[in-house]
Amino acid sequence: MKDKIVIITGANSGIGKAAALKFATEGYRVIMACRNMEMSRAAQKEITEVSNHTHVDLMELDVSSFDSIRTFCSAFKAKYPRLDILIHNAAYLSHGEKEYKLSPEHIELTFATNTFGPFLMTRLLADHLEKSQDPRILHACTTNIKHFFDPKRKIDFDNLRGEFRDTRPYSVYKMYGDSKMALLMLTFKMAQEFKSQGIKVNALQINRVKLSKETIKKMRSFWKVLAWAQNLTNPLPSGMADSYFHICTSDEFKNVTGQLINHKREIVQPSPNETGIAQLKNIFGSGSYPSYATDAQNVEKIWKLSTTLTEG
Ligand SMILES: NC(=O)c1ccc[n+]([C@@H]2O[C@H](COP(=O)([O-])OP(=O)(O)OC[C@H]3O[C@@H](n4cnc5c(N)ncnc54)[C@H](OP(=O)(O)O)[C@@H]3O)[C@@H](O)[C@H]2O)c1
Repeated sequence: MKDKIVIITGANSGIGKAAALKFATEGYRVIMACRNMEMSRAAQKEITEVSNHTHVDLMELDVSSFDSIRTFCSAFKAKYPRLDILIHNAAYLSHGEKEYKLSPEHIELTFATNTFGPFLMTRLLADHLEKSQDPRILHACTTNIKHFFDPKRKIDFDNLRGEFRDTRPYSVYKMYGDSKMALLMLTFKMAQEFKSQGIKVNALQINRVKLSKETIKKMRSFWKVLAWAQNLTNPLPSGMADSYFHICTSDEFKNVTGQLINHKREIVQPSPNETGIAQLKNIFGSGSYPSYATDAQNVEKIWKLSTTLTEG
């Protein structure tokens, strides 16, 4: 276990940073894949000191940019013999943002960061994961996907490349929920695709944790106040980081693949019924996910789009 190699994206704050500390403390070789190098160097130093562990590497990565992902993956492969664990933790959610933004490759920024970027990165690292004896991938998902229990809720597949950016209303929260639903659908499909290579792919349904001061600093004043207020009752990120660690290392999850796992580390089930009282249970509980996630047409659509957009 001592020389197992783990990549954690967005490991400079919040759950990602707490996870980097947990893996380092347990003796894993940790690669923090981060965008803001100045801030990340400080986090790397802190994690190295607190964990008393020397192998905490920092490598530059902007998950919203395909060029950056390609550069990162080449550099990683040149430096490390294989990859054991890949945690797609980084995400874009700019509270209160009203503007539809595009990534360097002209893809809506939330989807580029939360869905297509992780897809490309996994594709490029799959051969290195195959070299591990127990390769595992974890996607950071969210309870926000429960909005898909509303039968009218759909991913706006036709507006992910700026097609209606000036004419359609933009909601950063809808885009965030849509991008995480798409990531969940990719989890299910990837698990099937990678089965023969022994690569396990799961998603964690994160409910709520305290937001980091770094993240709050980026917010506008109204959202700052709201975030501080919510932080009074929200649990610390370390609990969720422990779940990252457990799902990616324990014997309990060794053979688990293609699953959504909730904050209680239970497997979330497809909902058998999305009407009446059963629907209330779906919405307020954490035991089931919307049938939208496994609809064959939806899954095929997001899979094809991910493949097409990241080709080349
Ligand atoms: N906190 C919650 O209550 C909650 C609830 C549900 C789900 N989640 C999920 O849990 C994960 C971690 O959330 P958190 O609350 O710990 O968030 P956080 O503290 O805001 O951390 C997000 C990390 O992602 C990084 N990031 C964003 N865009 C990036 C990009 N283009 N390239 C590389 N890194 C990028 C950020 O780096 P920069 O510093 O460079 O911006 C930061 O390190 C996310 O996937 C989030 O969606 C969190």
